[in-house]
Amino acid sequence: MDVKNIFVVGAGQMGSGIAQVAAQAGFEVLLHDVEEKIVVGAKEKIRKQLERVKEKGRLTAEELEAILGRIRPALDLSAGKGADVVIEAVFEKEEIKKEALKKLDGICPPKTVFASNTSSISITRLATVTKRPDKVVGMHFFNPAPVMKLIEIVRGYLTSEETIGIARSIAAAMGKETILAKDYPGFLSTRIGMPLINEGILALYQGLGSVEDIDKANRLGLNHPMGPLELADLVGLDTILNVLEILYEGHGEQKYFPCPLLRQMVDAGHLGRKSGRGFYDYSGKEKKPAL
Ligand code: CAA
Repeated sequence: MDVKNIFVVGAGQMGSGIAQVAAQAGFEVLLHDVEEKIVVGAKEKIRKQLERVKEKGRLTAEELEAILGRIRPALDLSAGKGADVVIEAVFEKEEIKKEALKKLDGICPPKTVFASNTSSISITRLATVTKRPDKVVGMHFFNPAPVMKLIEIVRGYLTSEETIGIARSIAAAMGKETILAKDYPGFLSTRIGMPLINEGILALYQGLGSVEDIDKANRLGLNHPMGPLELADLVGLDTILNVLEILYEGHGEQKYFPCPLLRQMVDAGHLGRKSGRGFYDYSGKEKKPAL
């Protein structure tokens, strides 16, 4: 299949990053969300990111406008009727993703491939709400999508070889490396990454060290670009909690049990960067530890 049009469903931090990457790769992108202000906000965010790239001399003003021109807002899911590929990036909850995919299945032509950006939910189960389970695949991007080099491709039980090939070719066009994972809770990357974040939160909960020292341990001791708490703030604590619950339920193992502090913070609305406060406070110029 010659992929030209990509319909990105969900204009949150992942959806907007994916739309940017897709438009930079030359695809025509329709970016959907339920509220106009979310899509407009996403496009503004993309413009700001591209301005930074332009300032570094890696993009001309014309190229910047051309990339932005390839991203068109779509408030109605019916805009997906001409899409070659849908990339679903709605909230990380199985029911929400299923609802979106079910509606899209009634809108998009049978040839359209459905890629889900889920980091943990079963592709096989998501595919059951469609009449095209062979065309449903996982394309798990990492945050921030324009920077992170990997896309984890997930093969559902019924995903066809052809669909895997299409996902690989889109990733290659985006300049990304890929790995192929079987459909098991948390696939490869999430089952490795999430316990590390949860462990960092547990260390804080048990009073073993300060927020800054826990992060410093990972940054300087393990050479990770970010510590587990600042990474949790970047990804969003609500997403982290949902994903850990999926791992805990899916594997039935205590090691994935979400730290009670994480749950309390989500209940309190301290979701990380997106809410202005998580393990750090983002209200000032410099982030400061909030706990
Ligand atoms: N969008 C686009 N570009 C961005 C960006 C964003 N949100 N944030 C940073 N960048 C770019 C910058 O423009 C800069 O580009 P150049 O190198 O070309 O100049 C580059 O990224 C580095 O940025 P900074 O110098 O501002 O900051 P940094 O060096 O501290 O890097 C970071 C920031 C890329 C976020 C880095 O800290 C990092 O890699 N952190 C770890 C991120 C990570 O682990 N992500 C995976 C999360 S898990 C996940 O996503 C899976 C899931 O589903 C839950």
